[in-house]
Parts: sequence; structure tokens; C-alpha cells
Amino acid sequence: MTVGEQDLGEVRESATVVVIGAGPAGLTAANLLRRSGIDCVVLERRSREYVTQRQRAGIVESRAVRMFEAWGLADLVLAGPPHDGILEFRVDGESHLVDDSDGSEGPGARLCPQQVLVQKLTDAHLADGGDLRYEVADVCLHDLTGDRATVRYRSADGTPHTITCAFVAGCDGDHGVTRSAVPDGVLTAHAFDHGIGWLTVLADAPPPAHPLLAVSPQGFAAHFPRGPHSSRYYLQCPPGERPDVWPDARVWDALRTRLGDPALTAGPITDRETFPLRSLVHDPMQYGRLFLVGDAAHIVSPMGGKGMNLALYDADVFARAVRDHVRDHDDAALRAYSQRCLRRVWSDQEFSHWLTRTVHDAGDDTLSGPFLRNLARARLDRLFTSPAAAQAFAELMAGLDPLQDHPVATDR
Ligand code: APR
Repeated sequence: MTVGEQDLGEVRESATVVVIGAGPAGLTAANLLRRSGIDCVVLERRSREYVTQRQRAGIVESRAVRMFEAWGLADLVLAGPPHDGILEFRVDGESHLVDDSDGSEGPGARLCPQQVLVQKLTDAHLADGGDLRYEVADVCLHDLTGDRATVRYRSADGTPHTITCAFVAGCDGDHGVTRSAVPDGVLTAHAFDHGIGWLTVLADAPPPAHPLLAVSPQGFAAHFPRGPHSSRYYLQCPPGERPDVWPDARVWDALRTRLGDPALTAGPITDRETFPLRSLVHDPMQYGRLFLVGDAAHIVSPMGGKGMNLALYDADVFARAVRDHVRDHDDAALRAYSQRCLRRVWSDQEFSHWLTRTVHDAGDDTLSGPFLRNLARARLDRLFTSPAAAQAFAELMAGLDPLQDHPVATDR
């Protein structure tokens, strides 16, 4: 990055890449670019404390673990125990253990909470000399189809900055600003609302032996580990319901009933929110010099744990494409970015949709009616009894299914 003259208090700079957003997508892109010797500036509107404490996803799939390994980053950025490969489905209180390890060579998934990954990616980037700027305001993009793009923003002290760059990575999530810099009519938004709400609760309570998905006539529930002494729980609820209609006693009663575990240990609830299950894909994921990465391009319903992993995938594809451009003057991967990412996005959307419908339709009759309920139960039955069905499920969980390509950078 070079700093130019300061004119009327404005700082003018230049960089190869400006990354907007320091979530999993932005920090992964920044780390991989830096490892490739490509300079970048990361602009984040929140404080470092806020970003590194935000608790969301919890599993890094096998493919993503191997991607970090190939970049020499796995030991630096991943923490938490390996996922033991077992997922528990509990149907009307009856337990079914599904082996979700796909049998391939190499490390499996890691139970790494998102905030831990974000903290470690932040530390790794700064230790590598990275340029991370927090609490920026008024980010706006210009000249996206010109010779150089321009990013303007105000730093925390109010100083206006202008950075010219070859590429902008829009890693600013679903509510960011980069997507809105694309002219109307260029992007198509494919949206789907499942008509299902979830209450999610974070508590200082013992994690389950295995990640647990429960089907019951009262509705879906789930219990996931989020560290040695904390858990995240999910409860299906009517869409649009407010979290304050779920006081602690109601949450623990519903969990005990739906998980079929009257002895479930309760603990202090530290966070509680409700949200609708929805899916969204913006196509294409590129406009001129702007590349949309992660949630800025797509939202996937949380079932199957693919949201954060898709963000890591996009970041890998983007960084490798920029590296090809800078090092080899080869733009083929930049041109293929959107198509390549969208192929995986739709595959993960399909998996997530399948799992979402299956565990919800199989339970509460009022959601989809008895016909769909029986179909969903037949799908679960097949998963529990057919090794071929279990293998297909495991490949999708690992992110290594043959339909998808899974670039792993080995030629650093
Ligand atoms: N300017 C700068 N930064 C911004 C702006 C803006 N105008 N708008 C948003 N941001 C920042 C946010 O503060 C946030 O830190 O962009 C970041 C986007 O991060 P995420 O929303 O976590 O998105 P992403 O990095 O794509 O990760 C997606 O993580 O939490 C999961 O459900 C999410 O699994 C998905 C994955």
C-alpha cells in the first residue's frame, strides 16, 4: 500500500486490494492475499472488540480445515476440538447416531466457534504486518468498471480517505454497502423464505456429547457445543415471534420436551434472539472490479452449518484468482470467480434446504401436513439405515462431495 499526498485533510492512498468487512470472509481473504505477497487494506465499520466477540457459527468443515492447512494457516487460526464425526438425530426421543465423517484421507471438521476463528485470523493478519482499520464510516465505491476502482471512507477520527485499487472484496455481509454500488438490473436476487422461525439461545451449560438435532411433534430443537462449558440451542418458533416471549423457564421446558431429555442441565442464558429461516443468492457475484465474498453474496439457512464455510470458500477462490492475476498475469480465475463460487453456493443451498425441510417437516404436523411429514420421516429412515445415503450425507457435511470442486492452494 502506498500513501500519497494529503490534500485539504484528505489522505490519498493506493493498494492492490481493498477488503470491506473484517468478518470470516474479509479476514480470510486478507490473510490469504498477504500470504501471497499481495498488499491489501481491510476496512471495518465496527470496533475490534465487537467483531472479535460476535458469536455465530461453530463448525469449520473438513474442506475448509484442509484449505487453511494448505495455506500453512491451520495451526495459527483454528482452535477447538476436532469434530468426532458423529451427529445425533433424536426423533421423538429416540437416538440415531449418524457418522458424518466421509472416509477421505486428511483432517476432518473442527468445532471452532466463529469468534475464535475471527480472533485468530485477526491476530495472524496483524502479526503478518496486515493493515486492518476499524470504526471506519461512510464507505463508498466508485469507478468499479474503470482502470482502477476508488474506495472512499472516513477513519475513526473523521479524516476522509481515498484509496485507489485494482480490486475490491465486498466482504461486508448481507447488510453491507458494497452490493449497493452495483447498478440496478445487474444482479438477480434469488430469495427463499422457509416460513419457519428459530429462537436461538446461548447458555453457560454443558455441551452435548455430539451435535444434536431433534425432531418432535412440538417442533424442531437442536443443541450444539460452543466451547467446553457453553452451548447453543435452537428452538423452532412461529416466524416473527419476539425473543421476550421466551423467558428462561419456557426455553428449558421446551428444550427438555423436544430433546426428549427431562434431565437436561440448564445454565445462565447469555444471549437470545429470534430470526426467520431464509436463503438468498445474488447472481453474479462480481461487477467490474468488485467481488462479493461470503454473506454479501449469499445467505444460507443455518441448518448444515454452511454459511461461514461458504464465506471461507469464496475467500479462497478470490485470493487465488488475484494471485494468478498479480503473479502470472492470468485473469482466467478472476473471470470464472462468480460461476465457480455459485456452483458451490447452490449445492450447499440444496443441502441446507433438504436438511431444513427434513427435520422440520418430520416433526410438527401443522407446518406442512401429514403427507410431507411422512416423506420427511422416510428420508430420515433412509439416512439411518442406508450406508450409501449416509455416505452422501457425510460428503456434503465435509464439503468434499464430488459434484463440487474444492480448490485447495498447494502451489504457494
Ligand atoms: N463498512 C465496513 N464494514 C462493514 C460495513 C460497512 N459499510 N457493513 C458491514 N461491515 C462489516 C460488519 O461489521 C462485519 O464485521 O462487515 C463484516 C461482515 O461480516 P459477516 O456478517 O460475519 O459476513 P462474512 O464475513 O461474509 O461471514 C459470513 O459468518 O456469521 C456467519 O452467518 C454468517 O456464516 C456466515 C458467515
